[in-house]
Amino acid sequence: MKRKIVLLPGDGIGKEVTTEGKKILLAIAEHFNHEFVFEEALIGHEAIAATGNSLPDETLSKLRVCDAILFGAVGHPKYDNDPSLKVRPEQGLLKMRKELGLYANLRPIKLFDELLGASSIKPEILKGSDILFFRELTGDVYFGEKGRKENGATAFDLMIYHRFEVERIAHKAFKAAQTRKKKVTSVDKANVLESSRLWRETVQQVGKHYPDVELEHLFVDTAAMKLIHNPRSFDVVLTGNLFGDILTDEASQVAGSMGMLASASIGDTIGLYEPIHGSAHDITGKGIANPLASILSVALMLDISFGLKQEAETVLHAVEQTLKNGFRTADIADSTISKSKILSTHQMGDQVLDQLNQIVITQLISNVNQ
Ligand code: IPM
Ligand code: MN
Repeated sequence: MKRKIVLLPGDGIGKEVTTEGKKILLAIAEHFNHEFVFEEALIGHEAIAATGNSLPDETLSKLRVCDAILFGAVGHPKYDNDPSLKVRPEQGLLKMRKELGLYANLRPIKLFDELLGASSIKPEILKGSDILFFRELTGDVYFGEKGRKENGATAFDLMIYHRFEVERIAHKAFKAAQTRKKKVTSVDKANVLESSRLWRETVQQVGKHYPDVELEHLFVDTAAMKLIHNPRSFDVVLTGNLFGDILTDEASQVAGSMGMLASASIGDTIGLYEPIHGSAHDITGKGIANPLASILSVALMLDISFGLKQEAETVLHAVEQTLKNGFRTADIADSTISKSKILSTHQMGDQVLDQLNQIVITQLISNVNQ
């Protein structure tokens, strides 16, 4: 299989982790006889510094003709405390989502048993949790009309949803639930917000097409509480852009650490794959960032965009085996892990690569012996 992949390392630890993700893609290509062609492009603060634009046209035109995107992160502390800056790194990411029609953001929250101790939540509550978030990504308050009035003393962001936006992602969520535990929890704030009442009404209608899937509705405040009170009660969670942004950061604790969470943003054509941890400038350049979310994003790419199930499984298996062997980056190391097993970003990527090579070789030998 020949595929063209655009790498968008972006800002902060984005570069460090994307390097490791690419390493895994190259190994998969070699072992399974695929050809992955890579191109790099600029986004975020880095793009602003070079061109004045957070998503230059040159980047966008590369994205439009590729098969999949591996994205790192955008963001820079310079912008965080200066709201007056008009051109901001995050705009590049939002524009890319909109322009490429990436309306569904899938965030799988799966806890590796080895990381039970890394979360701040009690292991007996966490064990066995497996949640798949469907966060709507191109609507809501993120893209509604925004502005200032009364000489800047009043600000507004319109929370807006159109029925078709809810329908298309709801279908995806119900279909995914059919392949899992057959439950969809739709999260909104329908006791207060009109856009949430449209959301709920639409999800109920779509749900009628999937009688084998149980549909539950929760208000976002209750969902936030239940997520750490009883994470095992969730299967597929379907929610809007803003609620999904907040809930998935919270849910990262169910997966042990933000450093473990991968995501896929899809629409009707191309897919974008990214770790959800962001640019993390506090640890940028220190070589200690966890590359596993980027590597797990690669597994999602292989599975969702390329339909390469076995290759995706192999990556997952290699990550699992690396954790089983006791290797950790600092963010997922608990007090039982000895210093010698706490790895740098590069070393962690190399460990996963070693495991991957071993898995493939073991498979080859067993095929020969059969
Ligand atoms: C995310 C991020 C982005 C978002 C930011 C960087 C704009 O937090 O992907 O969750 O809010 O969607
Ligand atoms: Mn976020």
